Amino acid sequence: MSTGKRNSKQGISTRAIHLGYDPATEQGALTPPIYQTSTYAFETVEQGAEYFAGTKPGYVYGRTRNPTQALLEQRVADLEGAEAGLALASGMAAISATFWTILKAGDRVLVDKIVYGNSFTFFSKGLTRFGVETEFVDLSDPEALEKAAARPFNAVFFETPANPNLRVIDIAMVSAMARKAGAVTVVDNTFATPVLQRPLEHGADLVIHSATKYLGGHGDLLAGIVAGSEQQVKDIRMNGLRYLTGGTLSPLTAFLVLRGLKTLELRVMHHSKSAAAIVDFLGRQSEISNISYPALASNPAREIYQRQMTAGGGLICFELDGGITRGRTFMNALDLITRAVSLGDAETLIQHPASMTHASYGAEERAKHGISDGLIRMSVGLENTEDLLDDLEQALRRL
Ligand SMILES: Cc1ncc(COP(=O)(O)O)c(C=O)c1O
Repeated sequence: MSTGKRNSKQGISTRAIHLGYDPATEQGALTPPIYQTSTYAFETVEQGAEYFAGTKPGYVYGRTRNPTQALLEQRVADLEGAEAGLALASGMAAISATFWTILKAGDRVLVDKIVYGNSFTFFSKGLTRFGVETEFVDLSDPEALEKAAARPFNAVFFETPANPNLRVIDIAMVSAMARKAGAVTVVDNTFATPVLQRPLEHGADLVIHSATKYLGGHGDLLAGIVAGSEQQVKDIRMNGLRYLTGGTLSPLTAFLVLRGLKTLELRVMHHSKSAAAIVDFLGRQSEISNISYPALASNPAREIYQRQMTAGGGLICFELDGGITRGRTFMNALDLITRAVSLGDAETLIQHPASMTHASYGAEERAKHGISDGLIRMSVGLENTEDLLDDLEQALRRL
């Protein structure tokens, strides 16, 4: 595929719109076509054998590669500063394909104590069934990491900002410690996106996205991405994707994510600006407490935030005085803001992690890991900020 208008000096939006595509190669089509095919014809049996053997580049079968996916992979890899990327059917497909590939029975993985509920279940109840030892560690605490790293480990996984409570973790610190131990650092960058944070620049080896969220951006698809070195990504494609999970992204969905990417920077900057205004409003409400937002002056990890991220993003967490009983009344009183899980969509979404996205932790684990039962998570959308503030205000008045 042509490298098109690639130029590392070009900005994020320019690359997200143009990189890797030249309309002249596709009958002048402004928008990259969808290669809606499951298999590819070989001119000769010998050519097919060469493609299969990898001695000549060429497409063989849609489970492992497709030109529409390839463009998406190239663009996201470039935005993340990675050599290569791999698109998969969901964020969980990206996480599972990656760890099925890099770990084997007898290995040990360190996972931050706060991650998305199904990632938690994958590491605590999935991988462990196959002889991998998982240890949940507070990766925001260098001493806890050092203690866990006293025994050999093979990989470390974390989200920053973390789902649901937006803890910020020092990517450079964790990556350096993992490197010393010969372990692979994998960062889930779903919440920040490459617009706000690029984990590989801070020393991580692999970066993962639920592209269902900001990369797709419109709440109409599921997709996942992993990006890193050529070799690592090739291993995940040829093992984790090809026969361990088979979690292939459809060409049509790859096209939709490419469409979403074109406005990624614009959207993320708007989400962040609107979220900052809402955080400011919530901070002035007497019945709201424990507001978490990475860019808050009171964030204990503010110094790390400033080093790693360029804005706070679109997610906010908070609690209502009176706990989740009042929290439910408040959420049920919202008119415009929609009660739904997921995030990164045009619509502002609100949910209760303890009974929804993080129910899989179980009450005891949530308490141990610091996910409070009163916590409410809001993904600020792209509506006009004033309308969102009006909705929050009327719901608070109805308490
Ligand atoms: C941080 C994070 N990573 C991964 C996932 C899983 O992604 P998907 O739903 O696309 O499988 C989610 C889903 O909410 C998430 O929030």
